[in-house]
Amino acid sequence: MLNFVTFMECVNAPNSTCLTSPGVLAPVFLTLMLVAVGALVARRDRKRFRELRAQGIWASFIILAYSVVVLAYFFLFAPDAVLGVEQSQIGNMLWISAIFAYGMGVATLVGMLGFAFGGWLVKRKRTPATAQRLVVAIDGPAASGKGTVAKRIAQHFGLPCLDTGLLYRAVARDVVAKGGALDDANAAAAAARALDAATLDDPNLRGPAAGDAASIVAKMPAVRAALLDYQRRFASDRRGAVLDGRDIGTVICPDADVKIFVTASAEERARRRHREHDARGEAITYEDVLADIRRRDARDSGREIAPLEAAADAITIDTTTLDADAAFAAARDVIVAKIASNPAAKKQ
Ligand code: DC
Repeated sequence: MLNFVTFMECVNAPNSTCLTSPGVLAPVFLTLMLVAVGALVARRDRKRFRELRAQGIWASFIILAYSVVVLAYFFLFAPDAVLGVEQSQIGNMLWISAIFAYGMGVATLVGMLGFAFGGWLVKRKRTPATAQRLVVAIDGPAASGKGTVAKRIAQHFGLPCLDTGLLYRAVARDVVAKGGALDDANAAAAAARALDAATLDDPNLRGPAAGDAASIVAKMPAVRAALLDYQRRFASDRRGAVLDGRDIGTVICPDADVKIFVTASAEERARRRHREHDARGEAITYEDVLADIRRRDARDSGREIAPLEAAADAITIDTTTLDADAAFAAARDVIVAKIASNPAAKKQ
């Protein structure tokens, strides 16, 4: 039979029973689990990890604050309850709820510290790869897979990531929302200057219509000029950054440590987009998607200002026959080789 001793009893008087008591094993096991969950979440999505950590720590403080206030009341004004003397039903309920909240608060706080520790372990493990500033510029046409590559590279090297296409999509959205016309250069420039980066996670920016509208405002010099500072500031993060778009290696970050141009045949890109439409249940033919991709390529490559093109020192990765894992591995290898061959880049 297992002897039940609590964690606190073992802290006060350790003995061999502590090694088998569920009162000790359960909290230790739960904390270890939270360390693992913290590490896992932080590895997948650092932003989500930070949100969960903050919410968890706030929750434990709120629960603890409640218990401390009620316990303080009993200690100061109703010491009988503390000594276990009979009291009213409400008094009993409050006393029990405060003790319970105190236990919950401590358990949640310890759990969240475990969660935070897991995230810290992952960050520590990654630090050697990112201890030096590293700016990665990733350019390429629509549906080439550059966005997926950029996100995974950023995650792998622990860097912030900016999908610059979202900026142009958001400008187009804001012009239309204000009742303006997409080809009105003044309205578009005003929207670009007033752009609120906090609105970039708007799900409405994701669809092909938003991309098409973006490529219209992206032709306008005043729009590009208004968005330049934001992108350069993003790239000046002390850790470095990954930016993906059309002109990152040529205009936004001409001094990037690594420049990658991700491309794929128009037919393959159209097939990918068509599969995405299918998955969302949208009825559109492959031929229409291909025509749309070609029109967008022509607009992005043919414009006078910052056209879509590979920088002279960019390394091209053709993803026509690569899946997402292989494309990521190719980009990672390019970056690792570049860092190894250029130690100066690491010291910036
Ligand atoms: O990458 P995307 O599909 O989200 O980009 C939408 C449009 O924005 C694209 O057609 C061209 C434009 N764009 C640009 O001109 N420069 C960038 N750096 C990123 C996007």
